Amino acid sequence: MRSREIFTSFSEKLIPLYGKNEAESLSLWLLEDFLGIRRKDLLENIEVVFIPEELEKALEALLEGKPIQYITGKAPFYGREFEVNPAVLIPRNETEELVHLIIKENKKVSLRILDIGTGSGCIPITLQLEILGSKVYGVDISETALELAQKNADLLGAFVTFQKLDILTEEIPFQDLDIVVSNPPYVRHSEKSLMHRNVLDHEPHLALFVYDDDPLLFYRTIAGKAKKVLKPGGKLYFEINEAFGEETLKLMEDQGFTQVELHKDLNGRNRILVGRK
Ligand SMILES: C[S@@+](CC[C@H](N)C(=O)[O-])C[C@H]1O[C@@H](n2cnc3c(N)ncnc32)[C@H](O)[C@@H]1O
Repeated sequence: MRSREIFTSFSEKLIPLYGKNEAESLSLWLLEDFLGIRRKDLLENIEVVFIPEELEKALEALLEGKPIQYITGKAPFYGREFEVNPAVLIPRNETEELVHLIIKENKKVSLRILDIGTGSGCIPITLQLEILGSKVYGVDISETALELAQKNADLLGAFVTFQKLDILTEEIPFQDLDIVVSNPPYVRHSEKSLMHRNVLDHEPHLALFVYDDDPLLFYRTIAGKAKKVLKPGGKLYFEINEAFGEETLKLMEDQGFTQVELHKDLNGRNRILVGRK
């Protein structure tokens, strides 16, 4: 069989669910991951002697709406590849923007940084690798997530201390921090109907949802606890629900943070908040 034939047959099957562009990029992603076929090999239309059963299964999983990152077990983040599994959220572009802002605004060396709700570890690992000499901590309530975060740190050569912590009921066990960052659960259950099925059916609800009657629970709790462990002048960074930009900003000011700024993501949505102790 020729590579272009496989590519076309995969794309045709995926188009009804994903549309043409997405179907083609998913097909290429699968061919690259399972067969090592790149775009240039499609142009040359190389011969493929063997199609592994796993590749057929991967196509089936895509047709069932499973995110490709859970199928290949990998997701790109800030120029690196992170392992992912269904216990962790797939790292998002908006979170790359949050990390980029932190790196851009904090050029000093040896910063002490804590990430709350660390998931795959994409935030603390990237910050540890990008900010010279930084001492970085990552906490999460999920032990399975922490295991994967540690694995990612080992694979990428980052030194991050991971620890299990329920931020809603426990105090932060680290002191003198320069930066606290968090992308906590922020989707209201009432927003479920607006979400894609592949997110809803496959990504961990523990990472996504917060109760409608108190959608800012994590922000209020984290801001209060972060205030106690940040150095004077230390910064708190949040990824936020775009529907609550102003409310979350006010919440940070009410907790005593100053110079609180709201940043928009590349799509023009209120997405990042930063304030100073
Ligand atoms: C939106 S995900 C963010 C994951 C990762 N930081 C990222 O940006 O891709 C939120 C994370 O918070 C964790 N989490 C949920 N409730 C928590 C709690 N009470 N204490 C600590 N972490 C919690 C979830 O397990 C999940 O990993």
